Amino acid sequence: MFHLVVLIVSLFLTKVFAQSFTITVNGTSSHPIPKTLYGWMWESGDGGLYAELLQNRAFQQVTPNTAAALNAWSTVNGASIVVVNNTASLSSALPNSLKVAIPATATGPIGVSNSGFFGINVNASWTYNGSFYYKVPSGSNVKGAFTASLKSSTGAVLASTTVGINPAATDWAQVAFKLTPRTNPADTNNVFSVTVDGADNAGQTFYFAFFSLFPPTYKNRPNGMRIDLAEVLAETQPGFFRYPGGNNLGETIAGRWNWRNTVGPLIDRPGRLGDWSYINTDGIGLKEYLDFLEDVGMPSIMAIWAGYALNKESAPEDQLAQYIQEAADQINFVIGDPAKSSAAALRASLGHPAPYPLTCVEVGNEDFFAADTYSAYRWHDFVGNLSIQFPQIQFMATTHVNSPRLTPKPAMYDLHVYDSPTWFVQNAFYYDGFARDGTKYFEGEYAAYKSLNGTRVTWPTVAGSVAEAAFLTGLERNADIVFAASYAPLLQNIASYQWHPDLIAFDTKSVFRSTSFYVQKMFSLNKGDVYLPSTLPSKAGSVFWSVTRRLATNELLIKIANANTTTATLTFNLPYKTISSTGTATILTGGQDVSNLPTSSNTVVPTTATFKPAKTFTYTAGAWSVHVLSFVAS
Ligand SMILES: *[C@@H]1O[C@H](CO)[C@@H](O)[C@H](O)[C@H]1NC(C)=O
Ligand SMILES: *[C@@H]1O[C@H](CO)[C@@H](O)[C@H](O)[C@H]1NC(C)=O
Ligand SMILES: *[C@@H]1O[C@H](CO)[C@@H](O)[C@H](O)[C@H]1NC(C)=O
Ligand SMILES: *[C@@H]1O[C@H](CO)[C@@H](O)[C@H](O)[C@H]1NC(C)=O
Ligand SMILES: *[C@@H]1O[C@H](CO)[C@@H](O)[C@H](O)[C@H]1NC(C)=O
Ligand SMILES: *[C@@H]1O[C@H](CO)[C@@H](O)[C@H](O)[C@H]1NC(C)=O
Ligand SMILES: *[C@@H]1O[C@H](CO)[C@@H](O)[C@H](O)[C@H]1NC(C)=O
Repeated sequence: MFHLVVLIVSLFLTKVFAQSFTITVNGTSSHPIPKTLYGWMWESGDGGLYAELLQNRAFQQVTPNTAAALNAWSTVNGASIVVVNNTASLSSALPNSLKVAIPATATGPIGVSNSGFFGINVNASWTYNGSFYYKVPSGSNVKGAFTASLKSSTGAVLASTTVGINPAATDWAQVAFKLTPRTNPADTNNVFSVTVDGADNAGQTFYFAFFSLFPPTYKNRPNGMRIDLAEVLAETQPGFFRYPGGNNLGETIAGRWNWRNTVGPLIDRPGRLGDWSYINTDGIGLKEYLDFLEDVGMPSIMAIWAGYALNKESAPEDQLAQYIQEAADQINFVIGDPAKSSAAALRASLGHPAPYPLTCVEVGNEDFFAADTYSAYRWHDFVGNLSIQFPQIQFMATTHVNSPRLTPKPAMYDLHVYDSPTWFVQNAFYYDGFARDGTKYFEGEYAAYKSLNGTRVTWPTVAGSVAEAAFLTGLERNADIVFAASYAPLLQNIASYQWHPDLIAFDTKSVFRSTSFYVQKMFSLNKGDVYLPSTLPSKAGSVFWSVTRRLATNELLIKIANANTTTATLTFNLPYKTISSTGTATILTGGQDVSNLPTSSNTVVPTTATFKPAKTFTYTAGAWSVHVLSFVAS
């Protein structure tokens, strides 16, 4: 109510007063802009970036003999299907398999189907790589062939292939095949199925384990990433990728993210109940993250589990040694010498003898939830031990800066904020008062997650995105101590999500860029190499700017965020003699409460315009707008 009154009064006032600013730019840079400044954070699981199309592909972490264990699976033509664990399993990591019993009276194709992650994107331009394991009881009288298909919701066969059944397969045998759709179906309401001929196999039983179906992947990596999502992430030329989380490190101590369970053969990965209440295959594991980083060219910010689980359990100090060892092995998997470390030797055996780049390791995630054990012993014991083994790594603390003192003193902190657009505008000077004592900061999660009236929003709004831009101008001014920042959460499957708003929404076949995504992209592609001080915006105001320079091309990059209902006119005084006669402005603007919805995802997109820069020039920024001005000046 209070907010509403303030809003109405300010709407009235701003109709009366236009705002103007005079800004003098200093040609001597005060600090470099870190290449890592704008990047991505990740804390998700399956059904998104990881391109696997089948849900519950290996019956991981489900309770046998329950309906829930059959999540995403259905019978085809009356086969009796059940998840069991009373037959010799494919691997010790995968105790469960799918028992398919063909009734004695069966005729026609009969078997099982999988509905994917809320459907399957069937694309006639693609070839799909499929596989599964099967076995039959000894003495079986199975005959003919398996038919693997992609089918539409109306049962039309979109792609199909057959693989002969081996009656002697009494131990697990793998079947691999390709599916090449002939036509594009009307929608993504498609299923994958495996059937046998009912009459030929009446009364017989089959066991299946670990199915998989992959479309082409980003950079054609086997077990890789969904192309469209990976490309959207890559298009901002991100400065880093923070993984595996975030809220992916563990709900319980036993259920913590343990790198060892995420590397090597897929059938040796048990999977785990993730922090967002669904089961993760861990098909996207430590090596998949590292390969993805390499494919996009992103540096990494890797987290280690630091003895705290989100159910508020802290491991006691006398049990910490095993977890410190686990973290050391994880770091060695990434950077260790295969001749000296078995974890590094494992990496080499998986095809990557060279170390991956890694300079920064985050100790836990939001461990301010257990600031007492963090400051009492967890930070000390993890960092004390690990920094002896890895003197080249900087360790990042995840408690609040004003929490109890940590020993050793952290080189870096990760700070998170989810708040209103007003908060982001009012905190554009958040870091200006921080001590310059060598400590660096990572704004590891942030989002304006409310509308101006204080209601939680489902999708990023223009007001929120402009407010984030205002905050980011402050990060650039403080980039001598803020080395990285990432909006959170990053990705949202619109068919099933646990948090909103998110930066990038997607469904089975499409990706939707939010207004906040465009702000990220505008800032990331135009971060420049050095910061140029200029007349400061007003701390209490709502119009903010930042001036940087791209050294190789002598480009000046001016970013403006107008988080106000009034137009702002900004007059810039530049310290240059030679200034190009035209400049390019990239502009994002729209109604304050407007969002890019999946149904209208191009409502607010950046546009470009030209303007005339000069030694002194005036530029007009309309209500609720973000601008990047670029031109050559020397
Ligand atoms: C420009 O910035 C430099 C370095 O920050 C400073 O030494 C100098 O005094 C500034 N010049 C003006 C005119 O403000
Ligand atoms: C089979 O699953 C049940 C239910 O989860 C479990 O109690 C039992 O220990 C499992 N048995 C084997 C052999 O894994
Ligand atoms: C289908 O594949 C083509 C070629 O890779 C691609 O350009 C197109 O975006 C794909 N369509 C969908 C809906 O994924
Ligand atoms: C599919 O198989 C082909 C070889 O037949 C391979 O080149 C490609 O990488 C595979 N794709 C995936 C996603 O595994
Ligand atoms: C290493 O960890 C152990 C076990 O938690 C702890 O007792 C010890 O103090 C740590 N060593 C350093 C140098 O921090
Ligand atoms: C717009 O700016 C004016 C003048 O600084 C200020 O009084 C008003 O509160 C601002 N409006 C918003 C929505 O921030
Ligand atoms: C707050 O603003 C949103 C639009 O961002 C609107 O949908 C909602 O109804 C408003 N709520 C109130 C209480 O005014």
